[in-house]
Amino acid sequence: MTTAPETAVPGATPNGGAALLDARGITKRFAGITALHEVSLDVRPGELVGLIGPNGAGKTTFFNCLLGMEHPDAGRVNFDGRDITNLPVYKRARLGFGRTFQRLEVFVGLSVLEHFLLADRARHGDVPLWRDLLRMSRTTADETGRADAMLEALGIRDLADKPIEALSLGRSRLVELGRALMTQPKLLLLDEPSSGLDRKETAALAQRLRRLAEESGTAVLLVEHDIDLVQQVVSRIFVLDFGTMIASGPTEDVLSDAAVRKAYLGDMV
Ligand SMILES: Nc1ncnc2c1ncn2[C@@H]1O[C@H](COP(=O)(O)OP(=O)(O)OP(=O)(O)O)[C@@H](O)[C@H]1O
Ligand SMILES: [Mg+2]
Repeated sequence: MTTAPETAVPGATPNGGAALLDARGITKRFAGITALHEVSLDVRPGELVGLIGPNGAGKTTFFNCLLGMEHPDAGRVNFDGRDITNLPVYKRARLGFGRTFQRLEVFVGLSVLEHFLLADRARHGDVPLWRDLLRMSRTTADETGRADAMLEALGIRDLADKPIEALSLGRSRLVELGRALMTQPKLLLLDEPSSGLDRKETAALAQRLRRLAEESGTAVLLVEHDIDLVQQVVSRIFVLDFGTMIASGPTEDVLSDAAVRKAYLGDMV
């Protein structure tokens, strides 16, 4: 295990592979609070990586800096070989960022299938979103085919026509995941996808997440409090504590590290 890894060559990862995401020295302050202090993190193409840390450690703020929803006070973000530090949110999405939110964000009134079709349009279509939302545009066979494939992959074909508000939280989280995957992101940022789920739903999510990411070749950066879920899904972990990256390395090494257990896990393991 290493602490706060630094690499000599920008965009190169400690083991020599080219990084898909390479964030270096990200600092973010909010009116006197340093939410992030020189935080660095890298994700290789197709890699499943975890970001853990106690409440208020800065995980969501870090995501928002990656996505362009917050602007860091210092540091830079490279994605797919390009400096995106100053790129607006929508341009980053087009480059291949997908995300789910800590609080579920779905369109009440739309069905599960419509959620997937909308996401597909966002990637492939040239029809303005408002026409889709008002159901004024026709769906093509290709679009329906891709949405059907995602329903199948998630095992929720029977829910296709259900309005999203009729679903359990567990099922809604799956829809959110499917919607993010519909855009075929190179990197999927998941902010506490198990939040509000019971153990069975969490186990199902872990299984599907790992398989879907592997099948699609999508890299995943997973923020999660549920250590079981993290352990099942990711091969490498970064640990944030009070805005500082205190450790990183292979999952088992990090989770068995005494300093990490003391700072974060406490009596949870
Ligand atoms: N917009 C904001 N304005 C002021 N302070 C903020 C803002 N966003 C986050 N913070 C502060 O930054 C710190 C990091 O918060 P953040 O939400 O990133 O933590 P987190 O690791 O995601 O926590 P949690 O596990 O509870 O989701 C906290 O002290 C928080 O209060
Ligand atoms: Mg958070």
